[in-house]
Amino acid sequence: MGKKVTVVGAGFYGSTTAQRLAEYDVFDTVVITDIVEGKPAGLALDLNQSRAIEGFETKVVGVTTGPNGEGYENIEGSDVVVITAGLPRKPGMSRMDLLETNAKIVRQVAENVAKYAPNAVVIVVSNPLDEMTALAQLATQFPKNRVLGQAGMLDTARFSNFVAEALNVPVASVRTLTLGSHGDTMVPVPSKSTVNGKPLRDAMPAEQIEELVVKTRNGGAEVVALLKTGSAYYAPSAAAARMAKAVAEDSGEVMPVCAWVDGEYGISGVYLGVEAAIGAEGVKRVVETDLDADERASLLEAAEAVRAKQGDISSM
Ligand code: LAC
Repeated sequence: MGKKVTVVGAGFYGSTTAQRLAEYDVFDTVVITDIVEGKPAGLALDLNQSRAIEGFETKVVGVTTGPNGEGYENIEGSDVVVITAGLPRKPGMSRMDLLETNAKIVRQVAENVAKYAPNAVVIVVSNPLDEMTALAQLATQFPKNRVLGQAGMLDTARFSNFVAEALNVPVASVRTLTLGSHGDTMVPVPSKSTVNGKPLRDAMPAEQIEELVVKTRNGGAEVVALLKTGSAYYAPSAAAARMAKAVAEDSGEVMPVCAWVDGEYGISGVYLGVEAAIGAEGVKRVVETDLDADERASLLEAAEAVRAKQGDISSM
């Protein structure tokens, strides 16, 4: 059977994710949904008309969904569902300011996903990311490995880009890593970051690494401030689409994602940014990497911060 992926939400994040997924040409069908009448159908029509030029066979289907789950029957059989639904930040807002509004939206979407695509792997990208991922698992009641969030790959990509720009080297020569939350307790991991295979710490002074770490942590907010309406979507959609592709291809690729942590790093019972092998069942396994003492301490701190917030969401 051909693969099917659904993207919930046809804003910039959702529509660019759908475009990337269609252009990979690994899915039979990409479904894009939104509550706005006509928009997903219009985007699907437009994307399908690009097939002859871009050279992909994937069919894109646009569906408007209703308040009582109308339209969700179209997501049946999805191998992967990417949830982008919810509001983006406005300038000056933190991701956490979206908590209550997006919790209502994500819960409703997740309940419909559970009903109509009970075997799907769910990739959450709505903010605040770590909390919305935990909420989607609660609302779907899916096994925890089948619900994960996108953030680490995005934060890592931002970090790598800033390092490459600062050193004026190809971005392909840079490897970085960020763990922790997609927020204030993001944990960059300089000890695992390299340039041309050599430690980042040998390539630039500690103060400059710290500057780029701060820039990475504020990477999303900087884009929001410039755009004025909406938040980043090119880099975020690139990350989300890669995760969905890894699921579809059962690749086992190790990526930084928001995953359920159960004992790794001495942390349990929380959704947290860690590296994980991604495949058909979602998270195949969390991959624990060696961390410096201060990086490990920061990760523990991040875990406790998101645990406190994730505790609040059961009532939302
Ligand atoms: C960002 C949003 C999508 O970091 O969380 O750009």
